[in-house]
Amino acid sequence: MITPSHAVKPESSMSVMDAIHHRRAVRHYGSQPVDADTIRALLDAAVHAPTAVHEEPWAFAVIQDRNLLDRLSDSVKEMAQHEAQRPQPAQETQLARLLGHSDFDVFHGAGTLIVLYGRFPGPFVVADCWLAAENLMLAACARGLGTCVIGSSVPALNAPSWKAELKIPTPMTAVAPIIVGVPAGETPPVSRKPPEIVSWK
Ligand SMILES: Cc1cc2nc3c(=O)[nH]c(=O)nc-3n(C[C@H](O)[C@H](O)[C@H](O)COP(=O)(O)O)c2cc1C
Repeated sequence: MITPSHAVKPESSMSVMDAIHHRRAVRHYGSQPVDADTIRALLDAAVHAPTAVHEEPWAFAVIQDRNLLDRLSDSVKEMAQHEAQRPQPAQETQLARLLGHSDFDVFHGAGTLIVLYGRFPGPFVVADCWLAAENLMLAACARGLGTCVIGSSVPALNAPSWKAELKIPTPMTAVAPIIVGVPAGETPPVSRKPPEIVSWK
């Protein structure tokens, strides 16, 4: 159990608002590895997210083996090819086209993939995992690291063969796969629509 005193000290003075505004989906990475202490600090940030009835319903896998990441990327693309056979929404078709390129690395060359799993089914388990995922990404940003959610890898990660290879217990479900690494260059900001307030009484 991690106590509130924090086993790992945060190493950044970036404010929460700065991290929120500076975080980008980073798709270009340098070759520098992310060390174990940093990974633990990111996981520590993740588990400080709020959870429904304080269930803390998550578990994590850390994959840094290049060969494993390459094989997983290939599986993601294979599954996407199968999916491309049936009618899909436009957003998915665009993704399927990108995934159709044999030399495309779905993990964008990052050396670390952290997968957040829901430990059991439940009405708020997925929400809890995503809250933890955002904590992790903001903590990474505050340390100068880049991250990107790789939603396209969820089906492969939940395939029985990958769960077996990664030794993920059967009841667990991959929710949020996040790549982490040292960014290679700047990622330009993506514009946002202003918040649409539909009711304020
Ligand atoms: C649920 C989810 C799934 C995503 N899946 C992918 C993905 O498979 N591959 C990818 O390159 N980016 C993926 N992204 C990143 C988004 O494309 C990115 O967050 C969005 O374009 C906004 O850019 P920003 O994060 O830099 O603000 C995903 C983001 C979310 C929240």
